[in-house]
Parts: sequence; structure tokens; C-alpha cells
Amino acid sequence: MQVRLAIISNAGGSGKSTLAVHLAYAVAQYKYKVALMDLDPQGTLTLFCGFPSPEPNETLSAVLKEDFKGNWPLVSCWKDKTDYVSVCQGGMTLTQTADELVLHKRGAYLLEDCLLDYPLNHDLVIFDCPATLGPLVLIALTACTHILVPVQVEPKSIQGSARLLEWYYFHCRYLRLQPYPEILGFVPNQYDKKRAAHRQILSALPQQLESMKIPTFDAVRESTEFVNASGMGFPLQIYRPAHPANKDFRPIVSNLVNLIKKEN
Ligand SMILES: Nc1ncnc2c1ncn2[C@@H]1O[C@H](COP(=O)(O)OP(=O)(O)OP(=O)(O)O)[C@@H](O)[C@H]1O
Ligand SMILES: [Mg+2]
Repeated sequence: MQVRLAIISNAGGSGKSTLAVHLAYAVAQYKYKVALMDLDPQGTLTLFCGFPSPEPNETLSAVLKEDFKGNWPLVSCWKDKTDYVSVCQGGMTLTQTADELVLHKRGAYLLEDCLLDYPLNHDLVIFDCPATLGPLVLIALTACTHILVPVQVEPKSIQGSARLLEWYYFHCRYLRLQPYPEILGFVPNQYDKKRAAHRQILSALPQQLESMKIPTFDAVRESTEFVNASGMGFPLQIYRPAHPANKDFRPIVSNLVNLIKKEN
């Protein structure tokens, strides 16, 4: 089965879209085909891929319409640097799509249905979810095989993570997912080792998650270059190839590559 990774967190600005683009580009270096899907009405992932304002028929909204016939609106990203990443864009039209999902008989299963009826030949599909745990996140939960949870190294985000896990267990049970998508791990983000509070939270996190058998990945460091890179529509690996933060994604990337190899 195709590896489908949902990046989910109930905290705004925790690094979901950032993680999505950086993992996509890194996995593409192994010559695996990656499809990014922007499920967020804010369209941040789309922006981070260098596409500021898609037409409604170029977004995921078109996929979730009754008349969708398998023509996935995927566009290539960072074409000068890779042939392996494309994005299904997001944007404001997804607000209306979210309302329609609530009324649709198979609402929560609609994206999974589309992927079953019209399969993508990509090795990895990444769903970038909005922070509000509404219908657009449910379609990702139902369609994904794995979940990654970025968290800012702040006390409030750690508390929020407990609520996210409650949401996950409740909805997996309620939607009768078989098997439950596996939580690959939590990813501490925007970590500044010079801050004592960050060091303290980071050292406590793995223990808190271990009791639920959830791994904690190495932290992604704080760097304004992430903001600069994504503002230009590039991942840091293209914008600053030698930047030390590029290495921070390695353990997650090797995990994903192993999963893809296993599925192939
Ligand atoms: N490690 C980092 N260091 C510095 N800035 C970062 C880092 N990770 C992300 N950012 C910046 O923080 C902001 C929020 O990141 P991002 O958009 O990826 O979060 P998000 O979880 O997708 O947000 P939303 O909930 O709005 O979808 C962006 O401006 C991004 O460039
Ligand atoms: Mg986002």
C-alpha cells in the first residue's frame, strides 16, 4: 500500500506546512515520487511551493466534487531542482468544501474514496492539514496510513498534544478505521537550545510520549531562514543547501524511505 502521511496538529503555526515541503523535497532526493496535498483553506503549503493564488479548479476542492473523474490537479514543484514533487493546491474554496463534507453521506471517507477510485502512482502522499480539527482533517485521518505531529517547544503546545491524541483515538474508533493510522512520531519544532525552557521541555517530551508508545523525533531547530525560504516558495534545502537545519529532517526522512521501500 502507498505510504500516505498526514501532518496533523491542533496548534496553529507548529510547522505542519514547513514539515510537509521539507520532507517532500528530501524524500524526492531518493527518486521517490511525492504528491503534496494542501488541505488548508489558508493555502500556506501552496504558497511554500511557490504558487500564490490557484484557481478553484486547480485545488483539492475539485477532487472532492461529485463530478471528479480522476484528473488530479497536480502541478510540479521546484521544477529546476526535481522531477519528483508535485502539489495538489489548497485555498479559500476549501472553506466551502468543508461545509459540503459535513452534509455529504460519505463526508469523512471522500478523499480515501477518490484515492481508491482514481489511484495516484506516487510513492508518498503528504496531507498538510489545517490546525482546526474539522472535516478537512477527518478526510486526511481516514485516507492516511501514518501521522506526524509537529509541536512547538512550548508548554501550551505540549498540553495541546494531549487533546490531539484524545481526538485521534476518539475519531479512529468512531470512524472504525482498520487499522488505525500509525503515529510515526512527534516532531519538536522551532527548538532553540540556548533557551533553558526549551531544553527542559525537550528532555521531558520523549518520556511523556513513551508511555503511549509514541516516538519523539529529533528537534528541528529554530531559524529565520525557514521563514525566508518559504517566503520565496522554496524549501530550505534549495534556498540554503548548506544550512545545518537541513540535517534536522534526516531521521524522519530515513523513516519514510524505509516505509516506502517496505511497501514497494
Ligand atoms: N524551525 C523553524 N524555525 C523558524 N521558523 C519556522 C520553523 N518552522 C516553521 N517556521 C515558520 O513558522 C511559521 C509557521 O510555520 P508553518 O506555516 O509551517 O506552520 P503550520 O503548522 O503549517 O501553521 P498553520 O497552523 O497556520 O497551518 C512560518 O512562518 C514558518 O516559516
Ligand atoms: Mg500550515
